[in-house]
Amino acid sequence: MPLTLGLIGSGAIRTALARLAVAAGLDVVLSNSRGPETLSELVDTLGSHARAATPAEAAQAGDLVVVTVPLTALDRLPADALNGKIVLDTGNYHPQRDGQTAELDNDEITSSGLLQRQQETGHPLDLLGYDAVDIGMLADSWRSEPNNPVYVEPYPGVAPEGLEPKEWWVWSLEDPGTPVGAAQVRELVASAERGLVASAERGPSRAGLLPAGLTL
Ligand SMILES: NC(=O)c1ccc[n+]([C@@H]2O[C@H](COP(=O)([O-])OP(=O)(O)OC[C@H]3O[C@@H](n4cnc5c(N)ncnc54)[C@H](OP(=O)(O)O)[C@@H]3O)[C@@H](O)[C@H]2O)c1
Repeated sequence: MPLTLGLIGSGAIRTALARLAVAAGLDVVLSNSRGPETLSELVDTLGSHARAATPAEAAQAGDLVVVTVPLTALDRLPADALNGKIVLDTGNYHPQRDGQTAELDNDEITSSGLLQRQQETGHPLDLLGYDAVDIGMLADSWRSEPNNPVYVEPYPGVAPEGLEPKEWWVWSLEDPGTPVGAAQVRELVASAERGLVASAERGPSRAGLLPAGLTL
């Protein structure tokens, strides 16, 4: 019986993750806030190992559950269904997008810590071809948050020149990215600085990854 990857949230990250999972022989259950019927087109492209369901069903079905929703949706997740599951959290805190959260601004907790506070979370797995790098306790996860060196900038491929913002977005969803080794990730994590999350001065926009007119 193949393992099942449950996805809570099927936004920008879903395509790459769902494809990796199907290619690795996993079953995939996708979900979003609007209902399974809105995911039928995507499910069709993924083939018979993918289906759409509600977030609670995706959590129940998943041996491994990826939570990939905006911070503002954390309090609407199916906490009971997630309880005891192995959860991978892709979430980041972007105050410009998510609104200010005092606990995060004051470095009292991380965004993954907020998710953990709502239910028991397990240990991340590297089933999908990713390596696993231990960057410390959950309280240290600020090191991989926006505006720090390990966040986003090292991974994209090189976009074709001259793309319009919308074309860049489509390209970025298909881009297989650039593998970054565990040793390099450790170096990047070690060079992180606390307090940069709320800074608009670094990050992908400044690094020129996003074309003019497109912001995170
Ligand atoms: N995009 C990236 O490359 C990337 C990389 C690393 C980390 N992240 C972080 O991962 C998180 C998600 O990013 P994203 O780019 O995938 O976001 P996104 O494109 O905005 O997609 C968000 C997804 O969450 C779903 N959702 C919202 N509320 C929900 C709820 N209560 N229950 C179930 N699903 C819900 C949305 O469904 P509906 O559309 O139906 O509302 C949508 O499918 C963010 O914190 C982001 O910063 C993103």
